[in-house]
Order: sequence, then C-alpha cells, then structure tokens
Amino acid sequence: MSNEQKVAVITGGSQGIGAGLVEGYRQRGYRVVATSRSIKQGADADVVAIAGDIADRGTAQRVIDEAVSRFGRVDTLVNNAGIFIAKPFTDYTAEDYAGMIGTNLTGFFHITQLAIAQMLKQGKGHVVNITTPFVNQAIAGIPAALANITKGGLTSVVKELAVEYAEKNIRVNAVAPGFVRTPLHSAEALEYLKAFNPMKQIGEVSDIVDAVLYLESAGFATGEVLYVDGGQNAGR
Ligand SMILES: NC(=O)c1ccc[n+]([C@@H]2O[C@H](COP(=O)([O-])OP(=O)(O)OC[C@H]3O[C@@H](n4cnc5c(N)ncnc54)[C@H](OP(=O)(O)O)[C@@H]3O)[C@@H](O)[C@H]2O)c1
Repeated sequence: MSNEQKVAVITGGSQGIGAGLVEGYRQRGYRVVATSRSIKQGADADVVAIAGDIADRGTAQRVIDEAVSRFGRVDTLVNNAGIFIAKPFTDYTAEDYAGMIGTNLTGFFHITQLAIAQMLKQGKGHVVNITTPFVNQAIAGIPAALANITKGGLTSVVKELAVEYAEKNIRVNAVAPGFVRTPLHSAEALEYLKAFNPMKQIGEVSDIVDAVLYLESAGFATGEVLYVDGGQNAGR
C-alpha cells in the first residue's frame, strides 16, 4: 500500500467531536486511525478502528503500530478522547478521579509519546489537544475541578511541547470548545448551558472540526490554543 497519503490518529473517534474529526480528515484526503473503547470497524478501508481504553499504554501502542504498519506514517494526532464529570469537589469519588485522570491525562501521555516518537522519525508532525475554556474561566454553578485539573494539563503542555519540538518541525496546538452539541450532553443540559457564553449559543461539531482543520493548514502556528466557545473564554 502506498504511504504517500497523510495519516491522522483520532482518539475518541466513535461519536461526537471525534466522529466529526474522522470525517473531516477523510474529506481532507487523510487516512485515519480512530480509537475508542466501543469503536467498530466501518466500511471505509481508509479508516481503521482500534478498540481500547486510551488510558492503557497497550491501546496507544496498538494504535500507533497499526497506523505505521497499515498506512506507513503518523502525520497528526488529535487527543480528543475525554470525559467530563461535574460535581461539587467534595463529592468526587476515587473512581471519578481515576477515570478523569486516566482518560484525559494518562490517555494523552501514552499516545502522544508514541506519536511524537514516530513523527521524529518522519521529521514532521502535528499534535492537537482538545481542551476546554473551563481551564481559564470557572463558572459559578458548574463545579468541575477535575476538568480543570486534567484539561489544565492538556492546555499547559501545548506551549511546552511546541517549544520542545519546534526545531523538529512538530507543531503542537489545542482547540478549546465551549458547550457543543454532542452525546456528552442531554438536550435539556444544552438548553441550560447556552446561557453560559456571551453568544448564548451552543456550538456544533462542525465548528470544532473546522478549527482543528484550520490549525492543520496553519503551518506556522504552534503553541496556540484556539477558543471556539461563543466568547466563553473572553468573559461574560
Ligand atoms: N461537548 C462539549 O461541550 C465539550 C466541551 C469542551 C470540551 N469537550 C471535549 O471534547 C472531547 C470530545 O467530547 P464530545 O463532546 O465529543 O464527547 P462524547 O460524545 O462523550 O465523546 C467522547 C469520546 O471519547 C471516547 N472515550 C471516552 N472515554 C474513553 C476511554 N477511557 N478510552 C478511549 N476512548 C474514550 C468515547 O468513546 P467510547 O465511549 O467508545 O470509549 C467517545 O468517542 C472531549 O475531550 C471533551 O472533554 C467537549
């Protein structure tokens, strides 16, 4: 199989923003390796689905190994897999903590290490983290400390990795979505949440996909966090 076509690895690719990203990168002509716990192989031979928990290094290893053995390369990694548990800080359980650290942070760590190691061999690459404006703007009434702790790490590491790998031609960016219509939120929750940004709107998956693909095209942009949030990060 020819390995000239670019390859994107999308975590959390089974639904919501991740499924939109799989489609968006395919439309750009990329081959895709998509992963999540429940993901199933579809009809498109240029989208390989690998099922597994992103917190396990074994999943990350299988994903990157498949990308390289099937398609020959890894051009882009989008760290999109994530969970969100909002509750008062003192109500969080040890399971909540382990789940959010595991998926949001440990999941990022394993696959990003392996993807960057491959990008270094290729001499080029792009990593995009999906984070949240909560990191900068807490919202009274939506207690989300574990989102801050975990996504805060994903936002913070963007500049570090961007600088660390700049001379290796590996760019590292992030997109911070506001409240977006995905299976993460019930219809009632979305109705409530739209009050929390100045535009008083809910974002669509396509808004986030467009932002990630913009960063993909923006070859001189690195260390950037792009807020796509109806002004949530700007203020209220
Ligand atoms: N929607 C929003 O309002 C919003 C706002 C800000 C940030 N975000 C971020 O955007 C990203 C995507 O969110 P979404 O709204 O599209 O959520 P979603 O519809 O719930 O999708 C989450 C994806 O992550 C996967 N996933 C969850 N836990 C996993 C694990 N342990 N291992 C592997 N995959 C796992 C899920 O698949 P499986 O269940 O099959 O594993 C699914 O594909 C997340 O990082 C989220 O924090 C979303």
